Amino acid sequence: MGDIVLETERLILRAISEGDAALQDRVLNTPAVMEHLGGVKQLHEIEAKHAKGMALYAQYGFSFLMMIEKTTGDLVGHAGIKQVDHPAAPNQGDHEVGWLIREDRWRRGYAHEAMVAVIDWAFGRIGAPHVVALTSLRNIGSWKLMEKLGMERRQDLDFTDPAFGPSDNPAIQYALTRETWKSRP
Ligand SMILES: CC(C)(COP(=O)(O)OP(=O)(O)OC[C@H]1O[C@@H](n2cnc3c(N)ncnc32)[C@H](O)[C@@H]1OP(=O)(O)O)[C@@H](O)C(=O)NCCC(=O)NCCS
Repeated sequence: MGDIVLETERLILRAISEGDAALQDRVLNTPAVMEHLGGVKQLHEIEAKHAKGMALYAQYGFSFLMMIEKTTGDLVGHAGIKQVDHPAAPNQGDHEVGWLIREDRWRRGYAHEAMVAVIDWAFGRIGAPHVVALTSLRNIGSWKLMEKLGMERRQDLDFTDPAFGPSDNPAIQYALTRETWKSRP
């Protein structure tokens, strides 16, 4: 079991550990959840992402985390921080926050609850000066969440992602500075 990194009222966010890729594949790798993320992945692709996440966590102390519902112990999402590393992105190395929630738990406030904790973590222990989040115009729920978190659209950071179809291009970015986060009401 990976370290418990963050805790909120309803959620535990713990580090990825060996074997979590199969769990993520079963619970989160569905057509609805992956619709704007390039579609359902092969298990080996999730394993490769998890290996990268575990290495990032070991080296820098942050990565995407497994989101566990306290009342059931179920995996309900995957969220956290990575470094922008898409070769076409103009802001390599920025701290990128991201999220996905299993479909039967959508619209319960889980993504927002988790991301408040993740952003506090980014600006606290991790010491990020600003964070960004990536999505597409068609992924309305995702950019509305970015706006609810106080993030601002950065058109200057848009880029084309060949892994995604035309309907999810360009990749668009929102950003949030530590000062804006700390001064929110
Ligand atoms: C986007 C996603 C993470 C939202 O998760 P969620 O737990 O349902 O979101 P929350 O309940 O915390 O909602 C927070 C805010 O997000 C926005 N939002 C979430 N889903 C929305 C939807 N379907 N339509 C419009 N706005 C939505 C709203 O602003 C909402 O605030 P409100 O409830 O006050 O209106 C979820 O739909 C998901 O996993 N989608 C598939 C994966 C994905 O695309 N991830 C993002 C990659 S960039």
